[in-house]
Amino acid sequence: MTDQKIHAPKSQLDDDWLTYVKIRQAEKWDLKALEWEGAYKRFRRIYADVYRRTQYGEALMWVANLPGSGLIGQVFVQLNSDHRPELANGKTRAYVHAFRVRPRYQNAGLGTRLMQFVESDLIARDYLAVILAVAKDNPNARRLYERLGYEVIAPDSGRWSYRDHRGELRHVVEPGWRMRKNLRSEKQ
Ligand SMILES: CC(C)(COP(=O)(O)OP(=O)(O)OC[C@H]1O[C@@H](n2cnc3c(N)ncnc32)[C@H](O)[C@@H]1OP(=O)(O)O)[C@@H](O)C(=O)NCCC(=O)NCCS
Repeated sequence: MTDQKIHAPKSQLDDDWLTYVKIRQAEKWDLKALEWEGAYKRFRRIYADVYRRTQYGEALMWVANLPGSGLIGQVFVQLNSDHRPELANGKTRAYVHAFRVRPRYQNAGLGTRLMQFVESDLIARDYLAVILAVAKDNPNARRLYERLGYEVIAPDSGRWSYRDHRGELRHVVEPGWRMRKNLRSEKQ
């Protein structure tokens, strides 16, 4: 089914649709929907792996559900990384990734709400800082993060690899910036 068929055009959305959106943790049966009708099927193994990590308390998969439309946004949080403790150390620092909102629901405040939700949740878990990466060719997202209080702390090579749904190794190069937001003063 195409995105068009599942998701009402903007003109047919109630003005107050955002108030009906519920943010919750992804369940196993949500994984298929996160592929956005094939647009992100190449990330199938990554999603399965992140979901597996949620079962061990190492990650969080937040999804935004709009009744009648389904999952319209997502943001994942890596709480712990054995190999990259500078991004997530399982205690004070967490890494946010896979942040996206379906195109026809963008620019209405959902992304901001998702990020604020993530931050409140991390504060409740006693985390002190959020780290994320934004591509250099995505100034709009960078502007959103800056508005939310994130600061650039370093360049990010944006080099990473993953196995797609066919098991083929894919290499990604998305040069960007690493950004950080302190959730509370380090002294607290
Ligand atoms: C970034 C994103 C999750 C924000 O969600 P959203 O619901 O549109 O966010 P909000 O409505 O709360 O905030 C709007 C702001 O988001 C940013 N934004 C809007 N559309 C965007 C897009 N297609 N790509 C990147 N950033 C976008 C802009 O900064 C915008 O503010 P502006 O008025 O200054 O232009 C969403 O736009 C998206 O999914 N973009 C494509 C994927 C992406 O770039 N993800 C971030 C990777 S680091």
